[in-house]
Amino acid sequence: MFFLVFRFVSSWVSLCPVVVMAAAGTPGPRVPECVTKVALSVSCDNLLDMDAFSKSDPLCLLYMNTSGPQWVEIGRTEKIMNCLNPRFSKTFVIDYYFEMVQKLKFEVYDIDSENSSLANADFLGELECTLGQIVSSRKLTKPLLMKDKRPAGRGTMTICAEERTDNRVVEFEVSARNLDKKDFFGKSDPFLEFYRETETGWQLAHRTEVVKYNLNPVWKPFRVPLQSLCHCDVEKSIKAEFECINSKKKQKKKGYKNSGIIVIKKCKIVKDYTFLDYIMGGCQINFTIAIDFTGSNGDPRTPQSLHYINPQGYNEYLAAIWAVGSVIQDYDSDKMFPAFGFGAMIPPTWQVSHEFPINFDPSNPFCAGVEGVAAAYQQCLPQVKLYGPTNFSPIINHVAQFGRQALEQQTASQYFVLLIITDGVITDMDQTRSAIVNASRLPMSIIIVGVGGADFTAMEFLDGDDGILRSATGQPAMRDIVQFVPFRQFQNAGTAALAQSVLAELPDQVASFFNLFGLKPPSDPSPS
Ligand SMILES: *[C@@H]1O[C@H](CO)[C@@H](O)[C@H](O)[C@H]1NC(C)=O
Ligand SMILES: *[C@@H]1O[C@H](CO)[C@@H](O)[C@H](O)[C@H]1NC(C)=O
Ligand SMILES: *[C@@H]1O[C@H](CO)[C@@H](O)[C@H](O)[C@H]1NC(C)=O
Ligand SMILES: *[C@@H]1O[C@H](CO)[C@@H](O)[C@H](O)[C@H]1NC(C)=O
Repeated sequence: MFFLVFRFVSSWVSLCPVVVMAAAGTPGPRVPECVTKVALSVSCDNLLDMDAFSKSDPLCLLYMNTSGPQWVEIGRTEKIMNCLNPRFSKTFVIDYYFEMVQKLKFEVYDIDSENSSLANADFLGELECTLGQIVSSRKLTKPLLMKDKRPAGRGTMTICAEERTDNRVVEFEVSARNLDKKDFFGKSDPFLEFYRETETGWQLAHRTEVVKYNLNPVWKPFRVPLQSLCHCDVEKSIKAEFECINSKKKQKKKGYKNSGIIVIKKCKIVKDYTFLDYIMGGCQINFTIAIDFTGSNGDPRTPQSLHYINPQGYNEYLAAIWAVGSVIQDYDSDKMFPAFGFGAMIPPTWQVSHEFPINFDPSNPFCAGVEGVAAAYQQCLPQVKLYGPTNFSPIINHVAQFGRQALEQQTASQYFVLLIITDGVITDMDQTRSAIVNASRLPMSIIIVGVGGADFTAMEFLDGDDGILRSATGQPAMRDIVQFVPFRQFQNAGTAALAQSVLAELPDQVASFFNLFGLKPPSDPSPS
């Protein structure tokens, strides 16, 4: 790989301190998403009255359980004097990660000391929940509980969430002319990188796709969040041209002018809805689970089988269901999850099915919560005969049909996530590719978790991270909707890391899909 650093045109520098680089070769790892912050404001009603001669003087503490076994205090509100229905003015600002279960605990105390010390303070009640539950309901009201889990009188707590973010994005259209030839044979494979200035140096903010064998590339229009690009406040379009100067070549070569010209045809700042705008505005995530019951998993009664449930009640299928399900369930209001199996012979006809409800009730394939899915899976195992082939397309098309209906309503009220857990030996590759290409135009994402130690090359191919997935007839996917991870990679890091890895891209897939189709959140996302 090699870089050309562009000279800046002054108008560009005034937009943002960003460096643009062109390079030929293979792009490096993906750019991490930047964090969103959520501000939580707290109020209580009907607190217990602890003071004999006046009302309680409440104060609220917030604890978070990040990774360790302990609750860590992350902040506390002011103390409000003489009040049983306090509205605290201090807000808690928390980094929000969709892909993690972020447990929170709010504790309310009646403070008797002058200096707000907790010594001698009376406990008025607590509320435990996840940040996901708060943002998906936007305004969460629950009864306060005492330490022994009994209600704290009629006391309730209400938590309101508001996203603290800059949701503006910059739309770019960029091309180049007369770039240098870098490859020994043939032409260069150019791509562009945008860097932002940080305290610790230059940090990659965006990388375009590679345009193969082309010295006059036109990159696809792209959008970069203004926050990732810079923290500037410029609201106008600019047009700029850069000369690419290769200083080594300039020294060596007489008459050297430049290594090509970059043309920025469009650079416009627009407002986008964020993932949390959609979630807080009422968008629901419809989560469907598909489990591979093909013969290559091995006989479930033998310990060698991937479906063997060990005496601790564990196998990789169950672990993957728990890991991904416990993050997503907060975003599904009824928590009823359709769960299907594929690749087994099922009663009563013993024909092979590629989309059978694991509770054997086609009119009601829903399982209550992640617990319900895990239970139905365990009950299903002894009732089916593992067989084959391993076809993904029927279940993808099954979910896609609901996605298509949702899109026809022209609202951003539902986004579909299909979790496929498989040992990886796929049979209907061409049909699956077409099904994914079709699904890329729908409000839908697919997560594939590969269990066992099989060769997952085919799965990695479906995960269009490097290059665009195409159908067998050459039709390209509109966007990357498949995320694949092998379970084994997370055996030491734990299943929370597995969930983080497969879910990290989902918020962006949801928001970019609805923004692309011009669909607004069902209701105004600002808190009432
Ligand atoms: C905190 O999280 C860890 C890991 O998720 C868990 O084992 C522990 O019980 C939690 N502690 C509390 C107080 O919830
Ligand atoms: C606050 O006041 C209490 C007595 O009400 C005292 O015991 C404690 O040391 C004080 N704490 C601080 C930090 O001053
Ligand atoms: C969610 O998607 C499934 C298809 O996987 C469908 O059966 C179900 O009706 C959907 N739920 C809602 C509430 O639309
Ligand atoms: C994909 O969509 C095309 C038309 O848009 C249709 O002909 C084709 O059957 C679909 N493929 C699958 C696998 O659903």
